[in-house]
This record gives sequence, C-alpha cells and structure tokens, in this order.
Amino acid sequence: MAVVIKTPLEIEGMRVAGRLASEVLDYIAPHVRPGVSTDTLDRLCHAYMVEVQQSIPAPLNYAPPGYSPFPKSICTSVNHQVCHGIPGERVLRNGDIVNIDITVIKDGFHGDTSRMFLVGDCGIAAKRLCEITHRCMWEGIRKVRPGATLGDIGAAIQRLAESSGYSVVREFCGHGIGRRFHEEPQILHYGKPGTGLSLASGMIFTVEPMINAGRREIRELADGWTIVTKDHSLSAQWEHTVLVTDAGFEVLTLSAGSPAIPDPPDASFADLLATNVAAAPARVAAPLAAVPVGLARQVGSTNPRRH
Ligand code: MF3
Ligand code: CO
Ligand code: CO
Repeated sequence: MAVVIKTPLEIEGMRVAGRLASEVLDYIAPHVRPGVSTDTLDRLCHAYMVEVQQSIPAPLNYAPPGYSPFPKSICTSVNHQVCHGIPGERVLRNGDIVNIDITVIKDGFHGDTSRMFLVGDCGIAAKRLCEITHRCMWEGIRKVRPGATLGDIGAAIQRLAESSGYSVVREFCGHGIGRRFHEEPQILHYGKPGTGLSLASGMIFTVEPMINAGRREIRELADGWTIVTKDHSLSAQWEHTVLVTDAGFEVLTLSAGSPAIPDPPDASFADLLATNVAAAPARVAAPLAAVPVGLARQVGSTNPRRH
C-alpha cells in the first residue's frame, strides 16, 4: 500500500478525530495522581470516548499480525516502559512518569496522540527526560513541509536526543494514519538529513519519538505487548498526528490542554548541538529499506520477531 494523500474531506475528518484524541488527554490529566491505578485511567478514558465523544477506542482488541488482541482502550507506559504498556492493577506512585497514548476512531478516521505525565513530585532527571523528549517531537514536526524528507525529521529528533545524552529507540516509529491505524510511511526518529521519502501536501502521519535516558535497546515483556528498556533506564514518549500542508504542517492533535509549544533552539544552541553530534562516535544506521508496515514497529532492525 502506497502513501495515501488525503482529500479535503478526509482531512476534515482527521481534524475532528485528532482533536478528540487530544481532548481525552485533557480529560484524564487531573486523574493522573499518586494512588490511581492504570486500570482506572483506562476505564475513565474508555467511558469518556464511548459515552461523551461517541468515539471508538482504537487500541481495544487491536490485533496486528503476530500480536494477540490488545485488551484495553489506552496504553499506559510507566517509568522504564517504552510504549504499549497495558493498563492493569499497577498503582501510580509519587515520582513516577507515565505516558498515556490515546487513539480514537471517529466517523472512520483515526486520531493518535500521547503525552508524558509527572506523577506528584518527580526527580530532576525524570523531568528533564520528559521535557527534552517533548522538544524532540517538536524539532521533528518543525521539519515537516512539502519537499522535506523523512530523514530530515529523524535527524532533527536524533540530534537533540543524543546531544542531550539520551538514545533513540529504533524498533518503533511513527506511521501514516487515516482510515487505518497504521499506514505507510514509517516515520523513523533517527536518520540523515535529505534522505528518504519526500513529503507532499496531504500526507498525514504521526511523530512519536521514544527516548531513553540510558541505552537504546529494548525488550518485550511476556504479555506480548509491553516494551521496556533493556537497561531499565527511564523512557519517555510524546506523539502528535501531523498533516503536511502547502505552508508546512498542521498538528491535528491539539486541544485546550495541550502543553505550550517549545521555542526552537536558538542559532547558537544549534551550532553547539552540531559540534557535539560531530564529536559523538559514529553509529551504524539500521537499513532504511522499505519494510512492511505494522504497529509502528520498524522491521529489519534488532527485533527479528514477527512479520
Ligand atoms: N497508539 C500506538 C501508536 O502510537 C499504538 C498502540 S497499539 C495498541 O502507534 F494496540 F497497543 F494500542
Ligand atoms: Co502512533
Ligand atoms: Co499512539
């Protein structure tokens, strides 16, 4: 399946779905407190989607090839969990960080967005990771315009992450989105400027970097879904659904409670980053060859399971 260019009517539907997904995060934010279980967050979000929004929680029973159906309506990934955490009896404690990832379907269109939440008083390391990961997402989004490449997006994210002392998870990536949850293209969160697919007006995809405080390697838990850092270091993720417009980009998953958009780093900071990255040891990039699309998992890297 090739990359879908959305029609004006489809774009209108995606705007609605995107805003609704973000509004679920606005709704749940005050409930993310010490003592709440991730199951309670799931139950509250489910009820809000189904009863208030009359939207469908896309994760519930979602079963891409090789996966068992996802049993809940949202993903909750705590501390060293990278993504796809399954809500359960776990109770959030003071100092935890948690990613809540919401995907709604409204009138057949998907809106996909996630934010990090600080539970009570968090340490400075946890706060810094969440803030810089937010900046990483926005550095990637700011590259989006017709004629830019996917490599431009990945490189911008990787540069800020690695110059901050963090690592970028390679096995999962952003994805085209529309009438289907996961479509082409795959949006890698690392790469080289000027490489990969050229963007065109009417494309819609997610930018959703997963950034680890420690090493980039991950492991999948026995539940078949939850991804954790191998070294147990903290991991953070933010996600928006983004439309390529003639003028550049439009973020579809914004709402009243979306956090302020960070300022771009100023020029001198950018120079400093470039210097630091140039000084960093070379890494062997995973192949950027075309790979099957599915669940934002980048195939052909360190996880040979499935596909
Ligand atoms: N929302 C996730 C993403 O950003 C996918 C979750 S799949 C699920 O692509 F089944 F775990 F919900
Ligand atoms: Co996504
Ligand atoms: Co998501």
